[in-house]
Amino acid sequence: MLNLTRRLAGVAVASALAVGLGACATQPLPRAVGTTVPAPSMPAATVRATTAEPTPAAPTITRPSETPTAAASTVTTTRPAQPTASAAPASSAPVVVVPADGPVPTGWVDCAAVRCVALTFDDGPNTGTTVQIIDALTKAGAPATFFMLGSMAQNNPAIVARIAANPRFEIGNHTVSHPNLNTLGAGAVNAQINNGAATLKGLSGRPVTLFRPPYGHHNATVDAACRAAGQALIIWDVDTEDWKNRNTATTTARAVGGARAGSIILMHDIHPSTAAAVPGIVAQLRAKGFVLVTVSELLGRPAPGVTYLRRG
Ligand code: NI
Repeated sequence: MLNLTRRLAGVAVASALAVGLGACATQPLPRAVGTTVPAPSMPAATVRATTAEPTPAAPTITRPSETPTAAASTVTTTRPAQPTASAAPASSAPVVVVPADGPVPTGWVDCAAVRCVALTFDDGPNTGTTVQIIDALTKAGAPATFFMLGSMAQNNPAIVARIAANPRFEIGNHTVSHPNLNTLGAGAVNAQINNGAATLKGLSGRPVTLFRPPYGHHNATVDAACRAAGQALIIWDVDTEDWKNRNTATTTARAVGGARAGSIILMHDIHPSTAAAVPGIVAQLRAKGFVLVTVSELLGRPAPGVTYLRRG
């Protein structure tokens, strides 16, 4: 796999940092951390925000690490405070990896041959909007990947079971309680990653090999914990900013307009506007010739401890 991997080092997260990230705009450029062989030729456009994810507002759980402001409302459109450079000294590490060659598992789409994109949904599951989304995806025969919080999953085991029962749905780990892992020590990082995965594995009966760090923030400690836990770090290259716009048309336009072959599209299954957008996003992506796949299908065999923003 290493001979076909590529790493991007020090590429600016320009598009996101340029738009209202406040203190983050002065943050040094990300420094790549990974296990793969550097390759100088990847286009800068393949790297986008790794700092754009919001603190989700999910009323059914308590996240001790969130600020009262961030947790106080489900309708705020104000971006929660972003970590400062000093709070995230190692920053995130954008790494792009080309999947290894090899036979495509039975039933998987071969994304080397067709234009694949992966829809991803974070911060659930819940009994409202998550159900609406899985119903819409099921009706459309569309795959997706759900990066669940262990705390949310524990509160909604029947929804986890519904998702696990559909072989076209994939379950990834999004920690237990959504902290910024860059602010935690190794013990707490390991607990968030390992306990989140254990909860999801226990409820779904599936191995958990994908991890999405809250806010896209990770450092060498996080990467090492993921490597030890057998989980690849899955970021995104298309940020719908659905948490901020809370608008079905805007979320749809950003998902469809931003998608390229190999894209990983970030959404959150806790917002009604996002749930309402899903049927249109699926239809419009397909009308543009994209094939929807899970993250594992998109990436081939993502490697533990390695960070992926998109395919290719
Ligand atoms: Ni999240």
